[in-house]
Amino acid sequence: MKRVAVLGSTGSIGRQALEVIDRHPGLELVAASSGSQPIDGLAPLTQVGGNPAEVLEQAEPDVVLNAIVGFAGVTATLWTLEHGIDLALANKESLVAAGDLAVTARERGGGRLLPVDSEHSAVFQCLEGRDPETVHSVVLTASGGPFRGRNREELQDVTPEDALAHPTWSMGPKITVDSATLANKGLEVIEAHFLFGLPYDRVEVVIQPTSVVHSLVRFRDGAALAHLGYPDMRVPISYALTFPERAATEIEPLDLSAGLRLDFEPVDSDAFPLLGLARRAGEDGGTYPCAFNAANEVAVAAFLEGRLPFLGIAELVEETLDAADGSPARDLDELIAADDAARRLAHRGLAVA
Ligand SMILES: NC(=O)c1ccc[n+]([C@@H]2O[C@H](COP(=O)([O-])OP(=O)(O)OC[C@H]3O[C@@H](n4cnc5c(N)ncnc54)[C@H](OP(=O)(O)O)[C@@H]3O)[C@@H](O)[C@H]2O)c1
Repeated sequence: MKRVAVLGSTGSIGRQALEVIDRHPGLELVAASSGSQPIDGLAPLTQVGGNPAEVLEQAEPDVVLNAIVGFAGVTATLWTLEHGIDLALANKESLVAAGDLAVTARERGGGRLLPVDSEHSAVFQCLEGRDPETVHSVVLTASGGPFRGRNREELQDVTPEDALAHPTWSMGPKITVDSATLANKGLEVIEAHFLFGLPYDRVEVVIQPTSVVHSLVRFRDGAALAHLGYPDMRVPISYALTFPERAATEIEPLDLSAGLRLDFEPVDSDAFPLLGLARRAGEDGGTYPCAFNAANEVAVAAFLEGRLPFLGIAELVEETLDAADGSPARDLDELIAADDAARRLAHRGLAVA
């Protein structure tokens, strides 16, 4: 029996994780958390809001699935890694904002960091058991979101409703908007840098509109391995929760006779500047990725509330990065201070927008 704690149990990933746990006799739900929705009785131990450390301490899980959305997931990521407990990580924002601290915490704790993001799960699987020396680069795929093919002018008047209509994945609102702006792919480039220890120029992004190719790894001999499957998050969730067993799921095998399309396109960086801004933040290092994430969270919330146009999201993030301090954070307190400072800059930018 593997004891599992699910943080963010009421969300899109959290609910799919509960389904996976329910159907697998070897997985036992020992604790669950949410941000504000009531979850009484969902698990033997539950917590709504606040720091999940106490409930995790009591539950003694073998694996923690962090499916909280946003910077709010940082504390749980660092706590789990420090304690040497396996971390199934959906909350990419925590690895973006706290990448350096997370890498150190994992080294100290000695647990495993298992990606749940479908692209990183794909890369993880393509890399499994291979000598890092043989790896040339990784290629993260992006669906391109609902606005693929549009130019800047055509993006001027798009609404939150348009942005929330994702063509291939059904997800929570924040990541769905991030997919429409390609900020999500930017977060994933930084996530890949920290997960796989690769420099940014060896993490590429390509558009693959059907989301069937989840990512690729290029090797030094010219070969590339790709991971294929239907876009269904229960597969990477199950893989991470049952690693290294790769348990059976109810997902249909890929039907290769049904006219699958595997086309690839380059990213239009003029229409979708957030990918480039994320790369810049990652390369600048320190707390720039934290500032990128904070400004993006503020901007996406404002866009969803109708206070900022779609193209204003990238503008606000760029202004915030230009004004941010970016010095490295030595501990969680300094990171929280950097996150706060970036949020204040972004709110100030919003007020004059
Ligand atoms: N959805 C996907 O397919 C997908 C794919 C790859 C990666 N991810 C990543 O997985 C994470 C979750 O995404 P999602 O789509 O599942 O989001 P979601 O549907 O919006 O769910 C978010 C979850 O986080 C909880 N939460 C929100 N604020 C919190 C706080 N301050 N403290 C503690 N818990 C809080 C929510 O609780 P309440 O319901 O009580 O607010 C909810 O359970 C994100 O980092 C996302 O980037 C998602």
